[in-house]
Amino acid sequence: MQELEEQLSNESSPSDEMLNHYGNVQEKFESLGGFSIEDRIVNILKSFGLEEQMYLPMSFISGGERVRVELARILLSDAELLLLDEPTNHLDMTGIIWLENYLKTTHKAFIVISHDREFLNNTVKKVVQLEDGKANSYKGNYSEYVKQKKEEIERLKKSYELQQREILRLKKLIRQFRQWANEGDNQDFYKKAKEIEHRLERMILIKEPPRNENRLRVEVKSTEKAGKEQIVVEGLVKTIGNRILFENANFTVLRNDRIAILGDNGSGKTCLLKILMGQIKADSGTFKIASSAKIGYVPQIITFSDVNLRLIDVAKTLIGNEQEARRELAKFAFYASDVTKRIKDLSGGEKVRLYLMTIFQKKINLLILDEPTNHLDILAREEIEQVLSKYQGTLIAVSHDRYFLKKIFNQSLIFQNGTIDRYDSLPIDLV
Ligand SMILES: Nc1ncnc2c1ncn2[C@@H]1O[C@H](COP(=O)(O)OP(=O)(O)O)[C@@H](O)[C@H]1O
Ligand SMILES: [Mg+2]
Repeated sequence: MQELEEQLSNESSPSDEMLNHYGNVQEKFESLGGFSIEDRIVNILKSFGLEEQMYLPMSFISGGERVRVELARILLSDAELLLLDEPTNHLDMTGIIWLENYLKTTHKAFIVISHDREFLNNTVKKVVQLEDGKANSYKGNYSEYVKQKKEEIERLKKSYELQQREILRLKKLIRQFRQWANEGDNQDFYKKAKEIEHRLERMILIKEPPRNENRLRVEVKSTEKAGKEQIVVEGLVKTIGNRILFENANFTVLRNDRIAILGDNGSGKTCLLKILMGQIKADSGTFKIASSAKIGYVPQIITFSDVNLRLIDVAKTLIGNEQEARRELAKFAFYASDVTKRIKDLSGGEKVRLYLMTIFQKKINLLILDEPTNHLDILAREEIEQVLSKYQGTLIAVSHDRYFLKKIFNQSLIFQNGTIDRYDSLPIDLV
């Protein structure tokens, strides 16, 4: 349209054809939303943290940003049905909450795949679970689904047990009738036994419901006694190029603190942890880590030195004895044939579990995790939560998973506008 406007302004007497063409284009522009669509585009890109990238060509932007652009494009289209596959994976809290509000108020229908339990709680009215090749649907949000599922398993368990008891009773009866039939050579008893056998054969068997036992039996080793002040940060500054990530950061981590690190993508959370781990340098300021601190660090991107190694070899290198190594792997829910898998064939959740296994072999008392639940499914998230709820030492973790945060943490370190603020609670909109 701008091009046409330029051409028109250069013509002293524009042709009817040109004017008509301009009219048509203008009409189309209006019907697509006109200038208001531009506001909406800017708004949505801002909420998804793409303000700075707004005018960049697509070839310049990162994988995560690409996903967010795609999401924005779909939300702005006039599609009546949205299919969203793990939409929160590449969003930070600001983006997630924006998307939640959008889905809460939109009249469009949507189907979403997600492992973000809080997000599901806030958006969906129906849950479909795919299990054993079947799709079962439940009314309500995620928590309501969990409740119904639990009741369903209870019911199944009862009917399973009743049926098993009935099967035993019938089998006993068959034996009884056969015995009587043999003893008295009585055809009636034979017939009765046959009848019951038929009944048994026709019975539709109820599958044994899954047992709800904990798969992980992690014993967190008794940790060395830690000093009171585990980490003291004073006046820390970090810049990347011309951009200040944070400046004058001052905070203290005390023994047994459980601190959630929160902040938008790119705000410098990972950089702070790398500084504390001595992997990169701050521009200025100091930090002190207590000599009593025994650190276990799970980086945002987990790497193993040799991905061709099998799990059992990894464990044996750490533990020595094969039997002990197997026992230790079993505590982290790697059983039987799992232990001969190669690292490169593990799922995301399995990799985190294996990494935690290696870390928990040492006596640690300061655990630092960088987005440990990202890309994990709900079962794997619950497993990590189980491990962490048993762990007694000091805990610091970056996460955008509100369900996880509420379950495990009670303090926070918030990255915002180039500052880091320490609070003795989680942000109010989380709890
Ligand atoms: N080695 C590096 N070179 C250039 N930029 C970097 C480097 N490491 C991090 N950054 C940039 O610094 C910013 C903060 O990164 P990071 O600490 O990973 O953010 P987050 O809070 O998401 O963990 C990001 O914009 C990132 O692209
Ligand atoms: Mg990070």
